[in-house]
Amino acid sequence: MRSTTRVAAAVLSAGLTFTNAAPCAEPSQLFVATYPAAEGQVGGITTFTLGTNTLTKSAFSNACGPYPSWITFASKDQLYCVDEAWPSPNGDFYSIKANADGTLQSLSKAPTHGGPVSIVLYGSGGAAVADYAGGGINAFDIKNPSSIVALTGPTFPAPTEAGATEAQKQARPHQAVLDPTGKFVIFPDLGSDLIRVFKAEDSLALTEKPSHTLTRGTGPRHATFLKGTDKTYLYLVNEIANTLKVFTVTYNADESLGFTEIYSQSTHGAGQSVPAGTAAAEITFSPDNKFLTLSSRLENTQEFTLANGTTIKSDPLITYSVDATTGQPTHVQTVAAGGYNPRHFSFNKAGTLVASALQAEGRIVIFERDVASGKIGKAIAEANIEGLPNFVTFRE
Ligand SMILES: *[C@@H]1O[C@H](CO)[C@@H](O)[C@H](O)[C@H]1NC(C)=O
Repeated sequence: MRSTTRVAAAVLSAGLTFTNAAPCAEPSQLFVATYPAAEGQVGGITTFTLGTNTLTKSAFSNACGPYPSWITFASKDQLYCVDEAWPSPNGDFYSIKANADGTLQSLSKAPTHGGPVSIVLYGSGGAAVADYAGGGINAFDIKNPSSIVALTGPTFPAPTEAGATEAQKQARPHQAVLDPTGKFVIFPDLGSDLIRVFKAEDSLALTEKPSHTLTRGTGPRHATFLKGTDKTYLYLVNEIANTLKVFTVTYNADESLGFTEIYSQSTHGAGQSVPAGTAAAEITFSPDNKFLTLSSRLENTQEFTLANGTTIKSDPLITYSVDATTGQPTHVQTVAAGGYNPRHFSFNKAGTLVASALQAEGRIVIFERDVASGKIGKAIAEANIEGLPNFVTFRE
């Protein structure tokens, strides 16, 4: 009944036919991380249950502290998250048990350099964390999720030129990303304009390798790899320059990585521009690796109609198809993200749904997505949430 309703509703909308809405045995859950919006408010992780056209809050937890900013699943019942603790210099990496009802239980935690914003799991039992405020990275041994062991991880020197903007006065690793071989973790450093490269050793130690230098003022934020037909590519979204860059990645004999730029354009595509103040945010491949979607914040160039009929200004989600042979992206769609400041979004595993977290508006919106065309379709559910949602993920 659920899938019939959804397909019928989709056919009525937007002229797109969605034939891929698979029946779900049980309602899906989503986890949303929020910062507190105001003093006295509490941030945390909220669990939502997605019904046919409803998104209902089913649990709230501060098991990941009051400033959670990133969630990574080890399994459906076990996750890792970071408490950014912004604006204090602290921050923690947490191991969390997720119960069937969506309630969460902290198993173990360990401090980070400060302001952690991203996690990636690597090797057999490693977790790497990017510390935006702390200007460094952390590595953890998580073989026993109930007893996190901190490994060493460096902090990086501040860039030295005069007149750097606040964001670029210090190193600001913004994401930890695992390469397709699982042997390297890279960290786009927004403050230093570097792609920092580390080799993931079998011992779980991260060994620093030469970084790739970008033009000053690029502001690399998030990235995602593609193992193409013959080559490996890296897609990098830059928050300050608001560009999408694509690199061919080479694996060198000395166990370092090489990056050769093959594409660099506005996040909106070749020949396009963005309003002043725009700040690109998230980038991710669709689960089938055929489409790349990125979010662009603080530009308000789209319109979105809420479930109650009110039309508001919105930032976009921008989608490209990617040629697996050449690595080249081709613009497919620019569409409303559901409001202002879409800091994060996620696909479900089937690629049939997109969840968008509108940080500035306290809203989560779920969109249908057509797997064949890569296009994001109509909004099927939305929910307001207390605080500033900075991360949303399906629990699958
Ligand atoms: C519709 O919802 C938005 C967001 O919750 C709210 O700001 C607005 O006042 C609502 N409009 C109406 C007509 O209810």
